[in-house]
Amino acid sequence: MKEMRTHTWIDDEIDRLDQELKRDIELGSLSNEELRLKWTGRKQGLLKSAFDEMMTRATTVEEKRAVGQSFNLLKASVENRIAIGEVSRSQRGMLDVTLPGTSQRLGAEHPLIRTSAEIVSVFQRLGYSVALGPEVETDFYNFESLNFPPNHPARDTQDTLVIAAQDAKPLRDRLLLRTHTSPVQIRSMIDGPPPLRLVIPGKVHRNEAADATHSPVFHQVEGLCVDTNITFSDLKGTLDHAMKALFGSSVKTRFFPSFFPFTEPSAAVQISCIFCGGKGCRKCKHSGWIELLGCGMVDPAVFQAVDQRRIELGREHAYDTGKISGFAFGMGVDRIAMMKYGISDIGLLYSGDMRFLEQFA
Ligand code: DAH
Repeated sequence: MKEMRTHTWIDDEIDRLDQELKRDIELGSLSNEELRLKWTGRKQGLLKSAFDEMMTRATTVEEKRAVGQSFNLLKASVENRIAIGEVSRSQRGMLDVTLPGTSQRLGAEHPLIRTSAEIVSVFQRLGYSVALGPEVETDFYNFESLNFPPNHPARDTQDTLVIAAQDAKPLRDRLLLRTHTSPVQIRSMIDGPPPLRLVIPGKVHRNEAADATHSPVFHQVEGLCVDTNITFSDLKGTLDHAMKALFGSSVKTRFFPSFFPFTEPSAAVQISCIFCGGKGCRKCKHSGWIELLGCGMVDPAVFQAVDQRRIELGREHAYDTGKISGFAFGMGVDRIAMMKYGISDIGLLYSGDMRFLEQFA
């Protein structure tokens, strides 16, 4: 049979202390600190003196043990209730409507995200969709399929950060941090047949020392247009329109021969300097022009790599180089954001410094 505990003088004393504490808290005339001092103070606290008295009164070992146990429970509950009492008191009676409120500050879109979204929306208005891809890529998507052969010097221009302990895998399966958004061109073409009109915003990584104009993490917006009869004129017209939409209708564009393994021909695009209108200033190094992006006609070798992979995956040939063509482009978001907002140090975009970020609210 279960032992029934009878109500003792110890319980009476504990109940009395309990009631007194309750009154003290509800009265609200003592601060939290004062309550603690009065009740749980080590030398003169009520609990301490009540405990000493009861221990003296207790005659048997059982009674002394019961006093000890009851006090331990009471002490924990006293501390809790003082803390809770403080909260409810401050909610109840102490509202001072003359104090300034605690304002919730509104967040703001980060200048990089805002710029990236602006670029994307220029192309969405031309009928482009948005595609995204992973930041951790395989060598195949970042390089091989984009016509960077193994050990080709063009790979050196990318300052790749690789994931450790991948040496046991075949080169094409090794993981790395994507150095550009171009691998998403490949992923998108493997996923579906033409026609494709895509913009691909995203974060990319390179093994570069940080300075005012370089960051090991930065952002790009990639573009890809694939269909029948896509020509270099389409590329020129599209990018000329996009630059005018981004920087103002008086901006001019010009195209220079360049090299990328995945486009042929390749070009670098310059816009007339948005600071001096083309007259020449420090910002454009007195040339009147600013280089903003790379582009070109998709190299047939890229279409072949895509189709080969599609076949491996059981999909049909869809990128027949005799029938379809396309153009691609890629631009750095950070530099464009810096130009648009007059930011002279790229590091500010990654510092998380509120004094900087607040200016975009
Ligand atoms: N991926 C290139 C880079 O990061 C940029 C680029 C150039 C992308 C030409 C393109 C392109 O799609 O056609 O330097």
